[in-house]
Amino acid sequence: MRNKIVAGNWKMNTIVRDGVALASMINNELKEVELREDVKVIIAPPFTHLTFVSQVVDNKKILLAAQNCATEDAGAYTGEISAEMLKMLGCNAVILGHSERRAYYGETSETLIKKTEQVIKNEMTPIFCCGEMLEQREAGNHFKIVEAQISEALFHLSEEDFAKIVIAYEPVWAIGTGVTASKEQAQEMHAFIRNFVKEKYGDKVAENLTILYGGSVKPNNAKEIFAEPDVDGGLIGGASLKADSFIDIIKAI
Ligand code: 13P
Repeated sequence: MRNKIVAGNWKMNTIVRDGVALASMINNELKEVELREDVKVIIAPPFTHLTFVSQVVDNKKILLAAQNCATEDAGAYTGEISAEMLKMLGCNAVILGHSERRAYYGETSETLIKKTEQVIKNEMTPIFCCGEMLEQREAGNHFKIVEAQISEALFHLSEEDFAKIVIAYEPVWAIGTGVTASKEQAQEMHAFIRNFVKEKYGDKVAENLTILYGGSVKPNNAKEIFAEPDVDGGLIGGASLKADSFIDIIKAI
């Protein structure tokens, strides 16, 4: 059976003090929530918070993710943070290829091949983001775009390594806009992804693949989106910055 995940991507928000307070609040509120075996909660604070946040959360209930990592192991790469460094801080996962990184920092499939390799090598879970822009959807190219993003960056992986990936489908037009994809649009894309993964890696890998939806998920729409058969949870931006709304979204899974 595949895992269900609710992950909070804090992006570049909060200073350490406020981030630790938020993590502590989420941790406390989560104590009251009965989580099913198959449900995992992840938070992805900024790099600078990871050490401190890891000290205030119960790491059996809340897993830690980073929002990015370097393409290389170590060396003269000023300003970069390696996957090994993140692993040593207790990270379990790394978000890769977020549309903001693709759009503002020029991340390409070539970069993502290397980053994915780093994350897998350091025994963490890559949360691989994909998703089309509004113009691409309007032109009817959304399936083609998403298929290319996934196949270019991930389809060189062995079956064993591909099985470690979590996919997050985040249509760019739904991120931070308050316009979420309809449950039908989310389901349609998730089923499409699962199907082409099946063609490449077979039934078992496709069935076990966790595919998250991201883009304006809020407490009032999470339940209907999560109820779709191929939606295995969410990658939450804005609504993960308030303990109450994040917890309500977790309860919706
Ligand atoms: P919002 O939930 O703020 O739309 O952000 C989604 C996102 O980009 C998560 O990675």
